[in-house]
Amino acid sequence: PANVGIHALEFYHPAKFVDQTELEQFDGVSAGKYTIGLGQTQMAVCDDREDINSISLTVVQNLVEKHGLSYKDIGYLEVGTESIIDKSKSVKTVLMSLFEESGNHDVEGIDTKNACYGGTASVFNAVNWVESSSWDGRLALVVAADIASYAEGPARPTGGAGAIAILIGPNAPLVFDQGVRATHMNHIWDFYKPELASEYPIVDGHFSNICYIRSVDACYSLFTKKYSKRYRPNSEQLIKSGDLDYSVFHASTCKMVQKAFGRMAYNDMLQDPENEIYASVKVYAKFAYSEESYYDKGLERAMMQFTKDEYQKKVVPSLYAATNVGNMYTASVWASLSSLISSATDEEILNKRVGLFSYGSGSAATFFSLKVIASTEKFRETLQIRTCLANRTKVTPEHFTELMKLREETALLKDYSPISDISTLAKGTYYLTRIDEKFRRTYART
Ligand code: ACO
Repeated sequence: PANVGIHALEFYHPAKFVDQTELEQFDGVSAGKYTIGLGQTQMAVCDDREDINSISLTVVQNLVEKHGLSYKDIGYLEVGTESIIDKSKSVKTVLMSLFEESGNHDVEGIDTKNACYGGTASVFNAVNWVESSSWDGRLALVVAADIASYAEGPARPTGGAGAIAILIGPNAPLVFDQGVRATHMNHIWDFYKPELASEYPIVDGHFSNICYIRSVDACYSLFTKKYSKRYRPNSEQLIKSGDLDYSVFHASTCKMVQKAFGRMAYNDMLQDPENEIYASVKVYAKFAYSEESYYDKGLERAMMQFTKDEYQKKVVPSLYAATNVGNMYTASVWASLSSLISSATDEEILNKRVGLFSYGSGSAATFFSLKVIASTEKFRETLQIRTCLANRTKVTPEHFTELMKLREETALLKDYSPISDISTLAKGTYYLTRIDEKFRRTYART
């Protein structure tokens, strides 16, 4: 099949949020630390009504309804998540409850886990299924979903929660470029979740940011080689970050994304240091890929300054969800793509190429790309990210802290009936009604 890619995207975010300026005051940190220092404006908040199953049920059912699909049309369904509430039973099997009425149980795929990377791995598996001899002509669906929460401390303002459903098939308007995925995986302890009874990770925050940038270097520089060989065989020059029309990133924070974009330009410069366009930053080329290059604040700031205008044009349109929802782990890079696609007009996006960088701690990362080859009007009509985010309910930092405590105390209990009010939930939201004495969970829909 030709032009395998994305036919539809659906985004779900929690109904409550906390304001990052208010959180700065509440936490007693200097004004601007979260909003300017991390680039975060608001953060999504979950109470005890939501878990990985409920947010995944919501996003899938909403996608199917909005696009008038039948569950019979789907032959592959995979879930990428690190919000693990069961060591055996997958979220995918819970989602099969939605297929029950259609009678379709012939659906391959299961859950995939590695930090924020599972959603991307699932997309690759789904694309591979459609392009393979196993394909039976039906569509593939991927869910990337997570509830990102941190213990009290410096990482807490980088939480969030969200779910994305991605419909994949041939002859799509957003087509993945073939043969250019550039991956880097290695064994590091930057962020991990060994405490199975807790939702919180162990995170070495500053180190994880360095690991992210090392992965940008490895993946992006390999991507430029693979892409240039495949799509520009007659050119001497490698593709540069400026040749991509948009760049979309895993957004642990929006500041991290700005640093990553600057680092792509740094990689470009190392390929061509004598080019006069780099005159203002050339002094940093001496660092090359040394250890110092990852810690030098002057280099980091200079590259952010150097790419400032391009960042506004090519990256900021993808950050609306990230800055107002926060980190969504596996969903993050796909929420960024959704933000871009839902805000750009056809004139701005048609025939344009988008680079994507996905990072999951531990670590697994890939740089890849897609091209928009048909109108994205249907995406704009159905996603409505700005409107949907504007309809949320704000909670105070005090209440946010209480809700985090409630989740800590109840998230993995048995024989528990959630207590949070459901009146703020948007129409069509699944919520947890009960965890019985055998840990079996049941859900209802608003
Ligand atoms: N006004 C403006 N900027 C400020 C202010 C202020 N008042 N105060 C601080 N800042 C800036 C700092 O200069 C710094 O900017 P820089 O990163 O460009 O140097 C930034 O705000 C953060 O301040 P720090 O003092 O570095 O913050 P702290 O050490 O308390 O926490 C940390 C930062 C450790 C990164 C924390 O946010 C964290 O743990 N985050 C989660 C880790 C993460 O997401 N890693 C990414 C990959 S893994 C994943 O996706 C889960």
